[in-house]
Amino acid sequence: MEISVSYLSSKYDPKRTIQMIEGTSANYIHVDLMDGGFVPHKNFSISEVLDLLGDHQKPLDIHLMVFDPIIYIHDLASLHPRYITFHLEATKDIVGTIEEIRKYGIGVGLSIKPNTDLYELMPYLSFVDLVLIMSVEPGAGGQAFLPTSVNRLEELIKIREENHFSFQIEMDGGINKDTISFVPTLDIAVSGSFVCQSEDFQKRIDELKNRM
Ligand code: DX5
Ligand code: ZN
Repeated sequence: MEISVSYLSSKYDPKRTIQMIEGTSANYIHVDLMDGGFVPHKNFSISEVLDLLGDHQKPLDIHLMVFDPIIYIHDLASLHPRYITFHLEATKDIVGTIEEIRKYGIGVGLSIKPNTDLYELMPYLSFVDLVLIMSVEPGAGGQAFLPTSVNRLEELIKIREENHFSFQIEMDGGINKDTISFVPTLDIAVSGSFVCQSEDFQKRIDELKNRM
C-alpha cells in the first residue's frame, strides 16, 4: 500500500507542511482543492496552488472537490501531477472531464462520496486509472472514518476482479494507525491530520506502514 499525505489540516502553514512531507517516505503529496460550492469551504486560487507546488519533488495526487472540474485541468496540468481526481457527483460531463485529463497524459481519478451508490461508477470504470472512495464527507480534515467504507472497498475490489479492470483504489478521510488496519487491501491510503498534526511526520508514516 502507498501513502499519500494531505496538507489540508496541519500544525504548520502549507508551504512548511509540504517541505516536511517532502522529507518523508510518503509516496505522494495529496492536494485537496475546494471551491466553496461542491463543498462549503474554498481554499485556493489557481495562482496560489501553482505558487505553493511549483517546485515540488514528490508526485502530486490532486483531489478536486469542485463543481465543473474540467475548467481547472489546463492550469493544473502545468504541475505535471501523477493523478487528477474529480467527483462523480460534481459534473454532468464525466466523459469530457476524463478526456481532458487524459489529453495531458495525467492519470485520471474518479471519486465517490460516502452515500453515493458504487454502481454509479460502473459506466466509467474501464476509462479511469484510480477510484477514490471517500471515507468521510468531503470538505474537511480531522473527521472520523466511516466504518461502511470497509464494505465499499471490498465491493469495489470484487467489481474490479470480475470485470478485469485495472484501476488503483485509494481511500481518503479519517485514516490513522487504527483505521488503516481495517483496509489492508487498499492500493493508496490518504492521511491528513494524523500525519500533519504531529511534529514527526516520518514517525506517523512509519506507524501507518506498520499497521497495513
Ligand atoms: C477531506 C479531504 C481529505 C482530508 C483528509 O475532504 O479530501 O484529503 O485532508 O484528512 P484526514 O486524514 O484528517 O481525514
Ligand atoms: Zn482529499
